[in-house]
Amino acid sequence: MPNVIVTGADRGLGFFLCREFLARGWTVFAGKFPQDYNLLEREREKNPALKIIPLDVGDKDSIERARNCVLEQTDALDMLISNAALMGETQCSIDKPPMDLKAPWDFFRVNALGPTRMIEYFLPLLDNGKMKRLCFVSSEVSCITLMKHRAGNSYPYPMSKSSLNMSVRLMHNLLYPQGYSFRLYHPGWMKRQLQDGALSEFAAYDPAETAFHAAEYFETPLGDEQRLVMYDYMSQEWPF
Ligand SMILES: NC(=O)c1ccc[n+]([C@@H]2O[C@H](COP(=O)([O-])OP(=O)(O)OC[C@H]3O[C@@H](n4cnc5c(N)ncnc54)[C@H](OP(=O)(O)O)[C@@H]3O)[C@@H](O)[C@H]2O)c1
Repeated sequence: MPNVIVTGADRGLGFFLCREFLARGWTVFAGKFPQDYNLLEREREKNPALKIIPLDVGDKDSIERARNCVLEQTDALDMLISNAALMGETQCSIDKPPMDLKAPWDFFRVNALGPTRMIEYFLPLLDNGKMKRLCFVSSEVSCITLMKHRAGNSYPYPMSKSSLNMSVRLMHNLLYPQGYSFRLYHPGWMKRQLQDGALSEFAAYDPAETAFHAAEYFETPLGDEQRLVMYDYMSQEWPF
């Protein structure tokens, strides 16, 4: 049975990716971050192939503890899905002074360094896996050439996602020759999942449907694995 670790799995796309891979017969290690959500615990009652591990991707000690927790159960992972992210607006753009200078660091630590540290710590397990697939959930806001001015748009989230893309490029340069394949994904504007599992009405896409599409993209081999591309939920390629 192949296995995967998913970060930010408590709710939203991460939660539905866990469900999707369980339905496909995978063992799923789900990174749990907020304490007040129990959707994962409810899912585990139905499927013991779901393993819940505490994980804050912004904290290297937490990543190390999560790695040790997985190692107690297996020394090999087939796939890593980096989905966790800090999202939202902050008081940080030059048209809204004074800028909150802590916000960019928090976003960078979680959204850009977090996925990179996950690979650093989990690489020995992924080296032992058969598939060697590294998947990263990015966003259209990471695309520097396409970014338009929007009044009051705060900088930390887009800056962190562009940094994530650069990290993925650098890791691809190193790890593709070692047999790894990469997926970079823009999920589209999704509804947020609330504590009771319901979805907010205010967005275009249902994260369960996006997770189905993303899982297909993450699991299926591509014709040209050497080329690093970012695809969206409609299988369209984005420049980044
Ligand atoms: N939603 C969209 O429209 C959209 C569009 C483009 C790209 N994306 C990307 O898609 C991914 C999933 O989005 P989503 O809408 O499902 O978001 P979400 O509902 O906010 O889920 C993200 C999960 O990551 C968790 N998280 C936050 N900081 C973390 C940390 N330090 N360590 C571990 N987990 C952490 C969140 O916890 P909390 O609940 O405590 O925040 C939450 O459970 C993200 O990478 C996002 O950037 C989303």
